[in-house]
Amino acid sequence: MKGLRTLFCVASALHWLGVSADMRDAMRKQRARHEQFAQKHAVSAPPVAADTSSGDDDGLLKRQDGSLIHFSNPKANEFFVDGKTIPLGGPGCSSMEGFLQENGPISWSWGQAQPTPNHWSWTNLSNVVWVEQPVGTGFSQGQPDISNDDELASEVFGFLQQFLDVFSELKGSNFWVSGESYAGFYVPYIANWIYEHASELDLKLKGIWIADPSLSYDAVQEQIPALRFVQANQNVFPFNSSFSAELQSISDSCGYTDYLDKFVSYPPKGQLPLVGTNGTFRTTNECDIWDLIIDEVSVINPAFNVYRVTETWPISWSVIGFPESTQEFIYFNRTDVQDAIHAPHINWETCSEGDVYINATTGRPGRDQSIPSTLSVLPNVIEKSERVAIMHGLADFILLSEGTRIAIHCEQEHDWGGAQGFQTPIQNESFHVKDMGVFGNMHQERGLTYVEFYYSGHMTPQFVPWAAFQTISYVLGKTDSPSQ
Ligand SMILES: *[C@@H]1O[C@H](CO)[C@@H](O)[C@H](O)[C@H]1NC(C)=O
Ligand SMILES: *[C@@H]1O[C@H](CO)[C@@H](O)[C@H](O)[C@H]1NC(C)=O
Ligand SMILES: *[C@@H]1O[C@H](CO)[C@@H](O)[C@H](O)[C@H]1NC(C)=O
Ligand SMILES: *[C@@H]1O[C@H](CO)[C@@H](O)[C@H](O)[C@H]1NC(C)=O
Ligand SMILES: *[C@@H]1O[C@H](CO)[C@@H](O)[C@H](O)[C@H]1NC(C)=O
Ligand SMILES: *[C@@H]1O[C@H](CO)[C@@H](O)[C@H](O)[C@H]1NC(C)=O
Repeated sequence: MKGLRTLFCVASALHWLGVSADMRDAMRKQRARHEQFAQKHAVSAPPVAADTSSGDDDGLLKRQDGSLIHFSNPKANEFFVDGKTIPLGGPGCSSMEGFLQENGPISWSWGQAQPTPNHWSWTNLSNVVWVEQPVGTGFSQGQPDISNDDELASEVFGFLQQFLDVFSELKGSNFWVSGESYAGFYVPYIANWIYEHASELDLKLKGIWIADPSLSYDAVQEQIPALRFVQANQNVFPFNSSFSAELQSISDSCGYTDYLDKFVSYPPKGQLPLVGTNGTFRTTNECDIWDLIIDEVSVINPAFNVYRVTETWPISWSVIGFPESTQEFIYFNRTDVQDAIHAPHINWETCSEGDVYINATTGRPGRDQSIPSTLSVLPNVIEKSERVAIMHGLADFILLSEGTRIAIHCEQEHDWGGAQGFQTPIQNESFHVKDMGVFGNMHQERGLTYVEFYYSGHMTPQFVPWAAFQTISYVLGKTDSPSQ
């Protein structure tokens, strides 16, 4: 293990987990619509990728290029995966999804017939550990027993202590936590727990990186900015004039239309109102414009995908069966794959069908009782960290970038660094990618970096790996600015 830096990635909770019942419904509906469409039009599934044969094996630990591999810790041998014996590639909202399709050394993304090396693997920058958590996710073992994200953080913390017992050479390392989507809850809570229990863990937490994160209520991150998004992306939401008028009328009556212009000012003028709800934090049926948009765009674009709105027919397969399940097998559910990576024979799903939180009173399946991180732990994490970065893809419709702007603005009484939100406006065209030029918008204040990426749907390291790589390089302290 070269260098003493380790990076811990609690990736891709992807909203299937926890509180976001709206998103879970949206995903089920998306699947059901695609199935209906396929049945109606007798569309056949795409061919299955060819099988591969494993080469001969002389028992020595070797990399794929034949070079020998040595571990300073003998225990690490037990965890070693010989790339050769993994059918077609490597080791999910399982962090295994992040590993195989986003920021790992192998890329087997949507529509790829076979895996390819990932030029922008985060392993180029650091040791990386992808963790299946919370219990109930992916390959994790045991029964879910948590009801909030302090409990979640405490379990991850215990895991890290045990991990360091095995890989003791990593003790004292600099450390970062990253994740996507629902990890907008997980990661800040985990980081906060580590900062609050620093003496019990032999790692030096330096910062966090979260992308397309759940930071606030769905009313904020989905509903309020939904129609603005549709209007700014008319090519992919080409609604007819009568439906456009209906949407406008809902937006006007629910308080969405002028929301950003009226309330998101720099510096913020105080607390922001929650609109479209009836006092429960939940959007009322009359104001649920986001679901209505998804329902109607799916009629004219049967391949519509909330995770990347630019998807059009035909539907790309995904080797992990997510977000579409159009193929015959799910890679990590194959017993030969499970054997090769020393994983148990279990039904592996990218996003757990079952709840990963419980109701603390009844012990039965429940929901995350945590307060969104912007309104709770995130300010403390920003203050204690060297670098904190929030990314957002501009083609993501499961969580919208303008909603994230509102969430950052919403820090209410829980501000960080002595003020609320950003004091000066986010400048257009301020994020540049090396050799590509302008690639989005960026803003930095008081230890917080916020970046919006062109072309990216929800899974930023999958869709714009070059941009994600540049921003994680910055968080790790390898560059002075995320923009190059
Ligand atoms: C990552 O490492 C590989 C192998 O050394 C190298 O070919 C590649 O250019 C590196 N990628 C980046 C983005 O630096
Ligand atoms: C609030 O709206 C939700 C969803 O429409 C509904 O189920 C609930 O009964 C409403 N509650 C109140 C207090 O009006
Ligand atoms: C306009 O769009 C709405 C929503 O998709 C649809 O119900 C209606 O039939 C459309 N009207 C025409 C003339 O296509
Ligand atoms: C996963 O594999 C098991 C047995 O190997 C099978 O019963 C199950 O249907 C598979 N699940 C999926 C979603 O393919
Ligand atoms: C837990 O379940 C009990 C009994 O069904 C219910 O009254 C309570 O509201 C639930 N608690 C939470 C936090 O959902
Ligand atoms: C920034 O870009 C957005 C979207 O293209 C545009 O609506 C807005 O007017 C621009 N703002 C400035 C200050 O140019």
